[in-house]
Amino acid sequence: MPPSTHSPRILAFAGSTRKDSYNKKLINIAAAAARQAGAEVTVVDLAQLAMPLYDGDLEAREGIPPNGKKFKELLKSHQGMLIAAPEYNSSITGVLKNAIDWASRPEPNEPALVAFAGKVAGIMSASPGALGGLRGLVHLRAILGNIHVIVVTDQVAINTAHEAFNPDGSLKDEKKQAAVEGLAKKVVSVTSRLMG
Ligand code: FNR
Repeated sequence: MPPSTHSPRILAFAGSTRKDSYNKKLINIAAAAARQAGAEVTVVDLAQLAMPLYDGDLEAREGIPPNGKKFKELLKSHQGMLIAAPEYNSSITGVLKNAIDWASRPEPNEPALVAFAGKVAGIMSASPGALGGLRGLVHLRAILGNIHVIVVTDQVAINTAHEAFNPDGSLKDEKKQAAVEGLAKKVVSVTSRLMG
């Protein structure tokens, strides 16, 4: 099937709210590569979308909180995702899981998992540690797969992240830079093909 003539819309975000987050740096590299590959990319900072911890009683009383709803609407209006996920205690961050949890909640007359089902994702991580956050990616891949996201098979984990980036935000290691760019391009190409 030839790729769609419409630009795929890709939402890019990191699972960290930290100002100097390595994962935010990583997502900026991926976002630039996805744009270069022809996608319309929106980068969203979860620090700007602070949301309460998921609470079923709060949801029953007030529905999805405003920033949870904004995040969900952003996901709904994009066909693909790029996610850079820090690893906390061998898994993903509470910030990322909480945002996914809120966005997964159904609202009246909506198909199940409307923000996620059938979307394409590319996942990556950066950590000062030796494994680069790889163990968190195992969990993230499983979570996304279970909410019907098509996670591309490639992934990138950047180890020793505290010394991995140039001042201009690129990665010092050209092969790693190319791997992140390649992952972003793969997400654009798979998304375009699925859009038909
Ligand atoms: C960490 N960090 C960490 N790193 C890692 O490689 N494996 C791990 O299991 C953990 N666990 C962990 C738990 C908690 C509570 C914190 C606060 C940190 C270190 C983590 O990778 C580091 O703080 C990164 O800088 C976080 O990503 P950002 O914010 O730079 O994107």
